[in-house]
Amino acid sequence: MTFNPLKEKGIPLDKQQRNWHQIVAKPYKKQKVDCYTRTRQILMNGIEVEAWGFKHQFNRFVPNIDLEDKENISRIGRIENQQQMTCNWLTPADQSVLETTLGYEQVAVDLTAWLAQNEPDKYVKETFDFGLLEDFDHLYRYSQFAYMTESIEPSDIVQGKTDVIVGRPTQHHHNCNGLRLRNYYDKNTASPQTKVNILTVLSGEQQTHNFYAEHGFMYGDHVLRETYAEIKDVEEEHVTMYESLIDPSETMFEKALLHEFTEVCNYYTCLEDEEDEEIKKYWEIFLDMEIGHLKLVADMLKKYEKRDPEEIIGNEIIIPCRFKSQKAYVQKVLESEVNKRLAPDGKYYDSMDKIPADWASYKIQEKAAEISAPSENCIKLIEHYYDRDIVEASENLKNKEVTLLKNGLQDIAVAHNTVMPDKLQEMIDYHEKREQEKEKII
Ligand SMILES: [Fe+2]
Ligand SMILES: [Fe+2]
Ligand SMILES: [Fe+2]
Ligand SMILES: [Fe+2]
Repeated sequence: MTFNPLKEKGIPLDKQQRNWHQIVAKPYKKQKVDCYTRTRQILMNGIEVEAWGFKHQFNRFVPNIDLEDKENISRIGRIENQQQMTCNWLTPADQSVLETTLGYEQVAVDLTAWLAQNEPDKYVKETFDFGLLEDFDHLYRYSQFAYMTESIEPSDIVQGKTDVIVGRPTQHHHNCNGLRLRNYYDKNTASPQTKVNILTVLSGEQQTHNFYAEHGFMYGDHVLRETYAEIKDVEEEHVTMYESLIDPSETMFEKALLHEFTEVCNYYTCLEDEEDEEIKKYWEIFLDMEIGHLKLVADMLKKYEKRDPEEIIGNEIIIPCRFKSQKAYVQKVLESEVNKRLAPDGKYYDSMDKIPADWASYKIQEKAAEISAPSENCIKLIEHYYDRDIVEASENLKNKEVTLLKNGLQDIAVAHNTVMPDKLQEMIDYHEKREQEKEKII
C-alpha cells in the first residue's frame, strides 16, 4: 500500500502548538539507547535546523505574497524550531561531546551508505560514495580521542554496527572550493528520490558542521581542538559539495515543498523503524505535523505558481534514512575508492594517479598542514596510550589496514607528521608482541 502524504489528513497548523513540558522531552539513557535511535535523533535535529532556517530565508527573500501566507511560513518556522528542540534535547546531559561526535559520524557513514544504494542518479551516487569515505575517516580519528580523553571504546557508541578504521586520510579532504562544486541535477528530470536524498544528507552535514563549530572548543587538549577545527572545515566542504548538486533554478515555493516533503519522508522512516516506544511517539506526532506543513506549502505552490505539487514530489513516500549496519557496502567502497580525488575539471572524480602535479587542492592542503595535520597527530598520540591506533573491524578488514593507508595517502602535499604505512605496521606489530607478553604473564 502506498502512502501519499498529500492525501493524508495530518495535524492542521493551528493545532500544532505544544507546552514547554511537551517540547522539552525526557532524554534517552546513553547506556541503554540503541545506536540507531541516537542516529535518528541526531539526523532529525539536523533536518529541523535546515527546515527552520529555510523559513527565515523564505520570508527574507520572497516578495509579493499575501500577509496570511507570510504569517503561515513564519508560524511553520516556529513549529520547526520547537520540533528541533525536542529532537536535539533528547540528548542526555551526561553524553559527552566526543560521544555525541561519534554518533554524528555514525550518522554520516550509515546514512550516506544507505542513500548511495538507493540513489537512482549515478553521478549523485558517486558523490555520496565519495563523501562517505571522508566521514568514515573522521569516525576513526575521533575514536582515537574518545579513547585517550574519556576512555570510551568506539563500540560504546556505534555498538559494533559501524567499522572504525582508517579511510581516505582526513589531511587529504581539504580541497579548492572550485573543485568541490559538483554538477547539479535538472529539476525537471531528477526524481523526487534524488531531491530528498540530497536534502537529507545536506541537512545532516550542515548540522555536523554546526555541532563541531559550537562544541570543538569545549576540550582543553589543543590537538583535539585543532582536530575539531580541521574536521569542521571538511564538513563545510561537504555542505558545499552536496548543496551544489541541487538545481539552483528551483523556485522558493518548490524548495519549500521539497523541504516539507523531506521532513515527512524522514519522520515516516523514523516511525517505521523506531523500537523505543517513548521516542516513537514523537516521530508519529511530528510526521502528522509535517503533513500539515506540506499541505500548506502545496497550496501556496498551486496559488502562486499554478503548479501541481505531485509534479515535483510524486505521489508516494520515499525512504531516505533507513539506519542499519552497512559494513559490507562501506568496505567495498573503501577498498575500491580510497584513492579517489576530485578531478581537476571540477565535475568528476579520478584516481590519484590521474591527478596532475598542479592540482588546485594541493596548495590548500600544503598551507593547512604547514605546521602539522592535527588528524595525523592524533594517531601519533594514541601510540603512547595503546601502542597502536584504536580500530574496530573484522580481522579480515583489520589485516588490510596498512594497505588501505598506502592506497589512501597521496605522494604530494603529505603533512610532515603523517603516520606512514611502515610506521603503522610497526605499531601494529609492537602491539601484537605486547599482547602476547601479557598472556605469558597471566
Ligand atoms: Fe519540522
Ligand atoms: Fe564527518
Ligand atoms: Fe561530513
Ligand atoms: Fe515542516
